[in-house]
Amino acid sequence: MRPGDAGLVAVDGAGESIGAAWYRMLPRSDPGFGFTGVGVPELIIGVRPIWRAHGVGRDLLRRLCELARAEGHARLSLSVERGNFAATLYRSEGFAVTSAGIIRETMVKRLR
Ligand SMILES: CC(C)(COP(=O)(O)OP(=O)(O)OC[C@H]1O[C@@H](n2cnc3c(N)ncnc32)[C@H](O)[C@@H]1OP(=O)(O)O)[C@@H](O)C(=O)NCCC(=O)NCCS
Repeated sequence: MRPGDAGLVAVDGAGESIGAAWYRMLPRSDPGFGFTGVGVPELIIGVRPIWRAHGVGRDLLRRLCELARAEGHARLSLSVERGNFAATLYRSEGFAVTSAGIIRETMVKRLR
């Protein structure tokens, strides 16, 4: 982790990790696919296949947005491949497409 990075891990009843969501403050010299500017953290999320479609991803996403807001961030960005249903999840949680490429879209959510 770099200063400013943060994340959450979802666990099952036995304490096993079943998913995670995090954001990173990436520099302009080493950006992620969803880089929109210095100071805008980029979100990454994944849930273990067996746990998908049980609400874990949405819960992680909401909690991470709350964490980012509490840490004083004004926006969160992410990159999603076109055709990935996750874009629907992101839209329903307030993310909007800010740039669209042939393969990927960048989405941003305003936190305040
Ligand atoms: C994207 C991902 C994090 C979502 O996590 P999840 O726990 O499966 O999501 P949820 O169960 O909270 O579902 C969120 C919404 O997506 C819908 N959904 C879940 N799986 C779906 C699927 N296979 N196809 C279509 N919609 C689906 C759910 O119906 C839900 O909508 P609803 O609340 O209106 O019912 C997870 O599927 C994943 O890890 N995918 C692989 C990695 C990936 O693509 N990461 C994102 C890269 S941008």
